Amino acid sequence: MARLPNYVQIKEVAPRDGLQNEKKFISTADKVAWINMLSETGVSEIEYSSFVNPKWIPALKDARDVGKQIKRNPNVLYSALVPNMKGLEFALEAGIDSANVFMSASESHNKKNINKSIDDTYPVLDEVIQEAKQAGKRVTGYVSTVFDCPYEGKIEPEDVIRVCERLFKSGVDDISLGDTIGSAVPTQVEQLLTPLLTRYPSEKLILHFHDTRGMAIANIMTAMHYGINRFDSSVGGLGGCPYAPGAAGNVATNDVLYLLNGLGIETGINEKRIQEASLFIQKKLGKLLPSRSLAYFANAQ
Ligand code: HMG
Ligand code: MG
Repeated sequence: MARLPNYVQIKEVAPRDGLQNEKKFISTADKVAWINMLSETGVSEIEYSSFVNPKWIPALKDARDVGKQIKRNPNVLYSALVPNMKGLEFALEAGIDSANVFMSASESHNKKNINKSIDDTYPVLDEVIQEAKQAGKRVTGYVSTVFDCPYEGKIEPEDVIRVCERLFKSGVDDISLGDTIGSAVPTQVEQLLTPLLTRYPSEKLILHFHDTRGMAIANIMTAMHYGINRFDSSVGGLGGCPYAPGAAGNVATNDVLYLLNGLGIETGINEKRIQEASLFIQKKLGKLLPSRSLAYFANAQ
């Protein structure tokens, strides 16, 4: 076990993962105002939207307008989800610093989510990765269902390693490992990180936990002990994948910050501004968000 890191880098994914599953459409103006608020929290990366087929994800059909209208903070890296060349074309037009490509370690989830087999996905992503790199962009690869799949059950570390190996070979800069349905417990994190960290340096790996069963903070703690210091999280705990039934939101940025601040680990993020940005979107959505430290903050107001 490694010592806990001094610094943790958080990618704020609420404008993408957080909103993609919401029934209520948040107007472009509200999305832009909210992302501008998030840009002033000190967070180093914001995944601002998704350039997927709007018929599949109607909540983010205004990705191009959002990208064009947000006020860019030079200290923030703005990324978006990109599934194919059409998505990349729109994303480059709207403005991205990083193209975030995605696929699954599970064949069934890959098919449900992006309508292709794993093998048929590689050539599509190869082209996106190559073109995005040529345009001078960073590329992150998401690998979903790295622990369990909603259709197939347990996923073996070898299946995850095979996809990671192929994506790194194709040129991604780093990989975000998704606990898509929020089912993992710390021993699963250990069983996956042990072989992965013999192959890749810890800074190439990001962990992306959904918090369906309340295990995300325990899993983050475990991953930090293995030397991981990059995590995805979402303000208020918004989030979910429409093609992963039963999956709840991402781990809440608010709760991760409470943990990290308590442990004395630097993030560069202003916790109060995160709470305020959470209250903003909570009001717009008209429902309480799951973060416990947000609830505590709101009650104390
Ligand atoms: P497809 O239907 O197989 O694509 O979708 P196609 O190439 O056959 O094209 C069909 C139609 O889609 C055509 O339009 C294309 O123009 C259009 P038509 O001629 O029928 O009018 N199309 C597009 N339109 C706009 N933007 C595009 C685009 N591409 C095609 N980029 C595709 C394939 C991947 C696009 C589709 O399956 C899709 O959009 N899937 C997205 C699913 C999704 O967004 N899931 C949630 C995100 S992943 C996630 O949440 C997990 C993560 O958080 C990590 C974790 O938690 O594990 C990242
Ligand atoms: Mg996710």
